Amino acid sequence: MDHRELPRPFLKWAGGKGRITHRLVAAKPRCFFTYHEPFLGSGALFFHLYREKLIRHAVLSDINAELIDTYQAIRDHFNEVIRLLRDYPYSKEFYYEIRQKDPQTLTLPERAARMIYLNKTGYNGLYRVNSAGKFNVPFGRHRRPRYFDPENLRAVSQALQEVTLLCTSFETVLDRSQPGDWIYFDPPYVPLSRTANFTEYSAHGFGQAQQQMLRSICIELTKRGIYITLSNSDTSYVRNLYSMPEFTIDSVFVGRAINCQGTKRRKVSELIITNYPKSYEISPLFFQTRKT
Ligand SMILES: C[S@@+](CC[C@H](N)C(=O)[O-])C[C@H]1O[C@@H](n2cnc3c(N)ncnc32)[C@H](O)[C@@H]1O
Repeated sequence: MDHRELPRPFLKWAGGKGRITHRLVAAKPRCFFTYHEPFLGSGALFFHLYREKLIRHAVLSDINAELIDTYQAIRDHFNEVIRLLRDYPYSKEFYYEIRQKDPQTLTLPERAARMIYLNKTGYNGLYRVNSAGKFNVPFGRHRRPRYFDPENLRAVSQALQEVTLLCTSFETVLDRSQPGDWIYFDPPYVPLSRTANFTEYSAHGFGQAQQQMLRSICIELTKRGIYITLSNSDTSYVRNLYSMPEFTIDSVFVGRAINCQGTKRRKVSELIITNYPKSYEISPLFFQTRKT
């Protein structure tokens, strides 16, 4: 493996941005202070920016507690996580044995190893929970599932050393961002059609009320001089929501799973929305107004 490719996302995640990170990087502000990613998932953009040495400080967050615990364990208990994964066998019996464990009764490294194992060996790398918040994805048949990947996990652990990790809802980003920071929002998408399934990322739904709250937050952040980039589906709902002078709307074609199993794929257009013009150069004024 080419070591320049490390670190890369260690989880497969619905809506992962691996395929369009180059477009997002091309759309980033030229210069920014702290990078925030409040809908972290597998963190494809964060890892790309880290590899390219484009970030100094980052705050990464998500509402999914098991996900954030996993990042924390890799950052702080890398050796323990690796040791556990090395000893886990790939079998259906072991999958169901570990799946039925309550993460709350496990240590942080055990929770992380369980999450990685289930993600890599479960059906199509889905993260899905039932109404009681219990992971309920069935066993998947993989030829060589790569849950034991010490090289990448070591690189991930290194990348996370100076990173602030938070388990929190996206709106709290208002309290911790400062003028000149950059926020990448990658929320659960507005469905393409009424019948399309809305992927379940957590026991909390993400409907129109949350999409509208996110837009209000983007307006407030713009007033404060904070750069935002936002991904969402190319739907008239999203276009209408962001058709305001503050925002620039661009589109990109991407191969997407269009059913919840990820078996049906086609090229669909997605939106990349920013609150700064394309070739934006930071104004020296931002440096003067930033609180220290
Ligand atoms: C489209 S995925 C992000 C994908 C990510 N960019 C990647 O590359 O894998 C959306 C994420 O939003 C999280 N999420 C859902 N509701 C949220 C909320 N209210 N606040 C913060 N995160 C939330 C989900 O747990 C999920 O990880």
